[in-house]
Amino acid sequence: MRPVEDIDELHATLAAWRRAGDTIALVPTMGNLHAGHLALVRRACAMAARTVVSIFVNPMQFVEGEDLDRYPHTPEADRRMLSEAGVDVAFVPSVAQMYPNGYADTTRVHVPGLEGIYCGEFRPGHFTGVATVVVKLFNLVQPDYAVFGDKDFQQLLLVRRMAADLRFPVEIIGVPTVRDADGLALSSRNNYLSAEERERAPRLYQVLNGLAARLGAGRTDYPALQAEAMSELSAAGFEPQYVAICRAGDLQPPNSADRALVILAAAWLGKTRLIDHIEVGPG
Ligand code: PAJ
Repeated sequence: MRPVEDIDELHATLAAWRRAGDTIALVPTMGNLHAGHLALVRRACAMAARTVVSIFVNPMQFVEGEDLDRYPHTPEADRRMLSEAGVDVAFVPSVAQMYPNGYADTTRVHVPGLEGIYCGEFRPGHFTGVATVVVKLFNLVQPDYAVFGDKDFQQLLLVRRMAADLRFPVEIIGVPTVRDADGLALSSRNNYLSAEERERAPRLYQVLNGLAARLGAGRTDYPALQAEAMSELSAAGFEPQYVAICRAGDLQPPNSADRALVILAAAWLGKTRLIDHIEVGPG
């Protein structure tokens, strides 16, 4: 596994692979890798002859006052994990390489319809930052495959939509969420939880499972169901931002004929913001 910081060096490596006819998979990450990221990496390595994992804490997707400055940073462990996983290149660019003109007034990518709802409502500008950096990475690597986790369900949908709208010749692959034994979705931000909060954190997924069971039993009074789940989260010590039952394909409010649904939720537990989701019904 070769760490590459420089864009020219990246291009030279990619050009050699392309001359050899190798397919390329990209896994974008912000580092502090865990078993969830590694599931994506394994999928990428299985799909393509060559795998690039990018590690870049993208400042543009952090909203003012968020954890940009304290986002966990474990470069040595990351590199070791990627070597063991058989990754060819870890692309670790600097902010200056990714944003040659700074990121305050740079060109940016909007995905109307998906960027302003749910997490986008509570993190204004976040998804513009995600879409912009993913477009940059697609342009730099020009991968045949790009692998994302459905842990960040809204992000995955937004990336799919952006890639389709801009006609990127890349296949977007979604990988199921990797969870701890108690159900908590793995996340770099779980590092922020105190021991007591970590014990309580799986309650988020339990509440969503309870809601999914009520949907499975045929209830369609979505606003009441959402309010019940919000109350359950509050009672468990969370500060919920939203619990939303929506159509899995476009995140719009469902009508009674819609069968493929997803429940999305975000909640603060102390100083940690957790998100989770459950898909319900076919697809
Ligand atoms: P990051 O949070 O590092 O996540 C990188 C990828 O790993 C994302 O596609 C995310 O959905 C996936 N992932 C994280 N936790 C997972 C889990 N428990 N199971 C399965 N997949 C998981 O998401 C980002 O970085 C950034 O927004 C990025 C796409 C890199 C753009 O900056």
